[in-house]
Amino acid sequence: MYAIFLTCRVVRNNCSDIQSDQISTILIKLIKMRYTVIKITIISTKGGVGKTTLTANLGGILADAGYKVLLIDADPQPTLSSYYPLQEAAAHGITHLITEATTENVISRTVIGNLDIVISDDSNGTLRDWIRDAVDGRVRLKYVLDQLQSKYDFVLIDTQGATGPLQDAAACAGDFMLSPIPPEILSAKEFVRGTVSMIQRLQPMALMNAPIGHLFGVIYKMDHTKDAKLIAAELRKQSFMPAKGSISIMNTVIPNSVVFRDAATQRIPVHRAKSATNAISAKDTMIAFTKELIPNLPDFESEV
Ligand SMILES: Nc1ncnc2c1ncn2[C@@H]1O[C@H](COP(=O)(O)OP(=O)(O)OP(=O)(O)O)[C@@H](O)[C@H]1O
Ligand SMILES: [Mg+2]
Repeated sequence: MYAIFLTCRVVRNNCSDIQSDQISTILIKLIKMRYTVIKITIISTKGGVGKTTLTANLGGILADAGYKVLLIDADPQPTLSSYYPLQEAAAHGITHLITEATTENVISRTVIGNLDIVISDDSNGTLRDWIRDAVDGRVRLKYVLDQLQSKYDFVLIDTQGATGPLQDAAACAGDFMLSPIPPEILSAKEFVRGTVSMIQRLQPMALMNAPIGHLFGVIYKMDHTKDAKLIAAELRKQSFMPAKGSISIMNTVIPNSVVFRDAATQRIPVHRAKSATNAISAKDTMIAFTKELIPNLPDFESEV
């Protein structure tokens, strides 16, 4: 069993060499057998782009489809921690998870079935200094999450919109990364500049057996303006070129819609929310997005 898990790790870490479809089929088989957990880090060097909303809603739809999901709030501003009401609060949060290297007493249960969370308890931002100064700081989160093997199908890590040791640790912990990109010129430029340089800076982590995973950019809060369409088209053409294939832009686009804010106010996953207009079905969008990000999920659509 352990050999299968190790093989899976190797496959994931070398995903550029193998067809991503084959990888996802192998991974889904292993998930079904509870041999592996897929870890996704939601990251962006820019703030306010939609990371927390996307993390909460991806977690919500996977949980409603019957998968066991753990959210980790790695942002000192604990927005994800209060996104969904808690049914059972753990004694500790991310600080204990990382500094004590244990998953005991750090996992809170949300009111959403199958959806747990490690809350952020780092309001002074001291964790970043601890990670910077610890010998194994940047790989600690990656290895502590191995303790969750067989307990979860997915772990989603939300981060602060900046760069720093905590974001580095989160990036190293993910099998792959996800980055929402609003199609306006400042966000698009920052994505190309900031994200590419972050990936390049973290390349040496491969020497510590913590290679950086592929990054999926998703065009986020898309509106109907001509400018947004031009920028989205340009991002698709240009953004991944300097990153030598380590970034790709997803086909599914997430619209700018009030239903996302309404769902956040109601503290429910957006696919459960009723849209005021028929212009967009948040459920259809989230299904398309999840299916593209994690292809071949068995029974996904029928269960949501
Ligand atoms: N698809 C969407 N359509 C419209 N508004 C949205 C959408 N997604 C998120 N928002 C709103 O955009 C704002 C920023 O979203 P969010 O907090 O998820 O961003 P963030 O990247 O996590 O920010 P930060 O860097 O501060 O953590 C919030 O007010 C949220 O309700
Ligand atoms: Mg956030």
